[in-house]
Amino acid sequence: MCGIVAYSGTKSATPILLNGLRKLEYRGYDSAGIAIHSDNTIHIYKEEGKVANLIDSIGDYENDAVHQQCHVGIAHTRWATHGPPTKENAHPHGAGFVEPGGSRIALVHNGIIENYRALKARLEAEGKVFLSDTDSEVLSHLIEFYYTDDLAKAISTALKEVQGTFGIACIAKDQPDMLVVARRGSPIVIGLGEDQTIVASDASAIISHTRQAVYLDDNDVAIIRGGKIDIKTLDAKPVQRDTADIDWSEGAAEKGGYEHYMLKEIFEQPTAIRNSIRGRIDLDRGTSVLAGLGLDSREIVDLQRLLIVGCGTSMNAGLVGEYAIEDFAGMLSEVEQAAEFRYRNPIVGSKDIVLAISQSGETADTLAAVREAQEKGALVAGLVNVVGSTIARETGRGIYLHAGPEISVASTKAFTCQVSVLLLIALKFARSRRLSREQGIKIAEEINSLPELVERVLEQNDAIAKIAEDFVKFDNMFYIGRGYLFPVALEGALKIKEISYIHAEAYHAAELKHGPIALLEESMPVVALLNAGPGMEKTLGNVEECRARKSPVLGVISEGDEDARAACDWVIEVPQSSQFIATVTSTVALQLFSYHVARLRGCPIDQPRNLAKSVTVE
Ligand code: M6R
Repeated sequence: MCGIVAYSGTKSATPILLNGLRKLEYRGYDSAGIAIHSDNTIHIYKEEGKVANLIDSIGDYENDAVHQQCHVGIAHTRWATHGPPTKENAHPHGAGFVEPGGSRIALVHNGIIENYRALKARLEAEGKVFLSDTDSEVLSHLIEFYYTDDLAKAISTALKEVQGTFGIACIAKDQPDMLVVARRGSPIVIGLGEDQTIVASDASAIISHTRQAVYLDDNDVAIIRGGKIDIKTLDAKPVQRDTADIDWSEGAAEKGGYEHYMLKEIFEQPTAIRNSIRGRIDLDRGTSVLAGLGLDSREIVDLQRLLIVGCGTSMNAGLVGEYAIEDFAGMLSEVEQAAEFRYRNPIVGSKDIVLAISQSGETADTLAAVREAQEKGALVAGLVNVVGSTIARETGRGIYLHAGPEISVASTKAFTCQVSVLLLIALKFARSRRLSREQGIKIAEEINSLPELVERVLEQNDAIAKIAEDFVKFDNMFYIGRGYLFPVALEGALKIKEISYIHAEAYHAAELKHGPIALLEESMPVVALLNAGPGMEKTLGNVEECRARKSPVLGVISEGDEDARAACDWVIEVPQSSQFIATVTSTVALQLFSYHVARLRGCPIDQPRNLAKSVTVE
């Protein structure tokens, strides 16, 4: 949550900071600001709303001497936690005000300072004046309080007193060539360019400048000056961090002619899934090759349970994984919302493997669940998209999705790639346990065909857009499904509510009769997952019950299924397949459906209100 960019180099910092903010806007978009060092002064600019407002308010920075002569600066795009999204609460926060304007230091912060009230009371007693409601401003005053002539030392001293999480970037008025960054719980990536260093909270703000990056570990403090980077612990012990290559292409993080990132990412799914499964299917042996898990067949057989943790869309993908693990491998599997897992003293041990699923690899609750599982002695692996992210590094073992950057706040390609890889995990576990080679080959072939099946769903984009026209008027919706298609109902409902603001609830189809049916009427449409397979007849029966109560029904059905077609008011057909494959194809159909409903309702699709891409706070 929140995006940080910082620059130190030979070029003018302002355009690089603003451009970086545009790339990171998906992380938070209720206010934005920059602080630059120029003319022996720290100049702070901030504005409520989107980065475009900030750019407008700064004006003609290309021809302004203040901006031409600034070579060090910090920037932030905010997702409000403490205090409303106002200009005052926007970052950077200055501290130690000096005449004729400007501050002794300026800071941008991502994370939450949990003990900010106590620190604020102490600093107010020392005479510090606060201009915002934020916890972050407390940190800027605390650093300034300790600052004499060593900025890194003041930062370390302040951070030792802080409880909570932070990714920060800080500059000081009397250190015109110095930038100091630090992290605990919120990512900081340092991009190593020629004659310049670009810091960001994620790689998408860096890739147009360099592919070489260093990822800070928790409690690292990095001092950046003149292209030199010194990394120390909070106790000032020098440490070395490896340099990694960022393999995302620049175009991957652009819209590429699509009206929205979400639509682009929906259409990228055939390629993304291909990349996720490439080299991981052994058709001949009817199994999958997942070296990153670091488990041989004997170790897999010894495992008793696969416990999956995640949040939101990643958790929904995990549910498909649970069904597949039990279905293919006959192995116990459970999915738990990561926040619930971390706080309920879970029973896990050395016979369990805990799989943390996260697109960003930074979700606070999923990361905490990883740490709790490790504490309890379980084997922990990650299923993560963002290379070098905290969950990927802390789990040490696992599988990267290779889905490419997902910029739209609503997750799409991450889900289908997660499901594809989960099916591969289920296949591998199954082959080590009870599945024959022939059965394995059949499943492997079906997984291999996923990209092509998704392409066939995408061909229906126009037809789905037409159906969406009829749904613009509704304020509420139900989604129902059974078995493998229950998680698809959950994901479909999540997608429509987050981008179109239509209230949607997903139920196991059998659950309708246990209460929700009371709400069925003409104004409550139902989306039914009806792909042929186990339970379909029963869901068809539920559809009849809905229509008997005048609820209009949109069915996602298998191609050519005339019974299902006859039972619904509208249908979207997906290719005939096993139900575990239909989890992907049906989800793609519902992604397009949600996208078009939201577009027709005029919603800000890529950046829905109140949301942020990566939830790094509890
Ligand atoms: O980065 P993660 O996969 O850990 O994120 C988990 C959820 O925050 C995320 O899937 C969220 O639910 C999406 N906005 C859904 O579209």
